[in-house]
Amino acid sequence: MAQSLFTAVLPMDFSKAPTAHQEVLSWISDVATLCEPKAIHFCDGSETEELELIEMMVRQGTLKKLNPEKRPGSYLAWSDPKDVARVEDRTFVCTENEVDAGPNNNWMSPDAMAETLRPLFRGSMSGRTMYVIPFSMGPIGSPLAKIGIEISDSPYVVVNMRRMTRMGAAVWDQLGLEGEFVKALHTVGAPRRPDPLTGEIPADKSWPCNSEKYIVHYPERNEIWSFGSGYGGNALLGKKCFALRLASMMGKKQGWLAEHMLILGVESPRGEKIYVGAAFPSACGKTNFAMLVPPKAFDGWKVTTVGDDIAWIKPGADGKFYAINPESGFFGVAPGTSLQTNPNAVKTISKNVIFTNVALTDDGDVWWEGLSKTPPEKLTDWQGQEWTPQSGRPAAHPNARFTVAIEQCPSLDEKWNAPEGVPLSALIFGGRRAGLVPLVYEADSWASGIYSGATLASETTAAAAGATGIVRRDPMAMLPFCGYNMGDYFAHWLSFAENTNNKLPKIFGVNWFRKDDDGKFMWPGFGDNMRVLKWIFERVQGRGHGAHNALGTTPTYDDLDWSGLESFPRAAFETLTKIDGPAWIEETKSHREALAKFGDRIPTAMLACNEQLMIRSHQQV
Ligand code: GTP
Ligand code: SPV
Ligand code: MN
Repeated sequence: MAQSLFTAVLPMDFSKAPTAHQEVLSWISDVATLCEPKAIHFCDGSETEELELIEMMVRQGTLKKLNPEKRPGSYLAWSDPKDVARVEDRTFVCTENEVDAGPNNNWMSPDAMAETLRPLFRGSMSGRTMYVIPFSMGPIGSPLAKIGIEISDSPYVVVNMRRMTRMGAAVWDQLGLEGEFVKALHTVGAPRRPDPLTGEIPADKSWPCNSEKYIVHYPERNEIWSFGSGYGGNALLGKKCFALRLASMMGKKQGWLAEHMLILGVESPRGEKIYVGAAFPSACGKTNFAMLVPPKAFDGWKVTTVGDDIAWIKPGADGKFYAINPESGFFGVAPGTSLQTNPNAVKTISKNVIFTNVALTDDGDVWWEGLSKTPPEKLTDWQGQEWTPQSGRPAAHPNARFTVAIEQCPSLDEKWNAPEGVPLSALIFGGRRAGLVPLVYEADSWASGIYSGATLASETTAAAAGATGIVRRDPMAMLPFCGYNMGDYFAHWLSFAENTNNKLPKIFGVNWFRKDDDGKFMWPGFGDNMRVLKWIFERVQGRGHGAHNALGTTPTYDDLDWSGLESFPRAAFETLTKIDGPAWIEETKSHREALAKFGDRIPTAMLACNEQLMIRSHQQV
């Protein structure tokens, strides 16, 4: 690799470094002194660099090359079984005052945390190369974009960051000599120290990591320190750590929002087009919704993709809410992805993909639960074991993922890369609820819409370590991602109504996950979610109808377009949209308890909405 790229061998000589930004160079030098890597490599984001890193990882066993005829340019990684998802209980927000991190975050004082981390990071990169990864969240040069630099000892992180962010040499030009940047430090926490007797460096693991993990944020310093994990949001620091936790705090200070939202465009056969942002918790259908393919009978309707996970939203001079997708790739859940559920995702991942923790087929391709109705007779599972349909365990890890550049998405929106973003006319909050929450409703006002987001609950999924299927409050799908006190966060959302020039998007609630008494999903979901999206589109246009209830406005059977699904029973739709008054009285009580956790940081407007919902639930029969 040394010929094509700048690699500084310690002691440090930055005379040929691709930047002369003093703060960057002194930070790199401090990190190198602390972590003691064997070399420093400045990533340029080129294809040559990527190929060299991939070749090295194939040699080391971190990546397996997939069959180039079936899956050109694609590779498979299997992680350590103890490093498969985000680790919420190891994630910290270190503000000076605990109350600013809020009850929604694990907190430690910045000084105490620094003392904890220093010994862990000391020598943590021994025997490894330290990669300096310059990246932009958002189109380079966009007024909404921000720059970060990740220092990592994981080449897997480098090739993933190249897909997920605008990464490479152009970022140095944009940063200039004094530009602001987020310092994102990552180590897998697996130093390769020479044997004290033989001097030999022990063989490396295919997925180095540490059983101890720390994912640490200093929002007041714009710094991230991540130790011990190589997986997803724990290690690709542009994503949750920067673009949500730190960015949410920046947005609070600067008058914008960083949200766990997909962004899609929807266009009618008459050529009218709107953009929509939708927040669903992890593994609750953002990627699917962002790439929705309308049912055949919806001839002329088009859904286009701007993003599938994160939105940065800021009102423009015209008062419209402009959103960019700060990412440039998908780190999407593989299980459940198929031609039936998400054909656009299947096409997106036909080439140049890094798969993590899916199963390997005999002919060098990939498989996961749900990809085909009948599983292959024989596979190698995500832990490298032989697998048959009789094995009685999943072949792919439930949080197995694909990493792929967004430009390969067939439904890519023409403005996905627009520096000014796209104007949002509607915002949607949705979770996984087997009962209670109707298929769709429109909130009556900005405040009551924020309330419905603030009280969102959802069943936990495999995207985070821990038990799954447990209903918990996940306000605005941001519980694991809001980098400050959520009471203040709700107040920040409410504050956008103060500027009367602002054209506030309409707010909707959805639930694709209602189940019947047999535990089966009642709503077909996926492409059929277009029926709900069309109703939302019509509401935004001032055309759609519905019935008023405790939550707001819900369509009646006749208000939805059933073309191609005429057989869907009216009775099932009634159940899907019924508001059960007594059950909502109980739910509203539980909302109140949840809000009370934020103490005096909870805006009074949220409590007023709670009281109003209580009155309305009593009236709902
Ligand atoms: P993160 O990337 O973790 O933030 O999540 P995401 O919201 O993008 O998750 P994704 O879209 O990949 O969700 C995947 C899971 O949701 C799979 O289990 C899908 O089968 C399921 N899913 C998505 N849409 C629907 C739907 O309309 N109905 C039902 N029943 N399941 C759905
Ligand atoms: C999520 O968990 O919401 C994800 C995956 O999008 S990760 O990047 O691992 O956070
Ligand atoms: Mn996510």
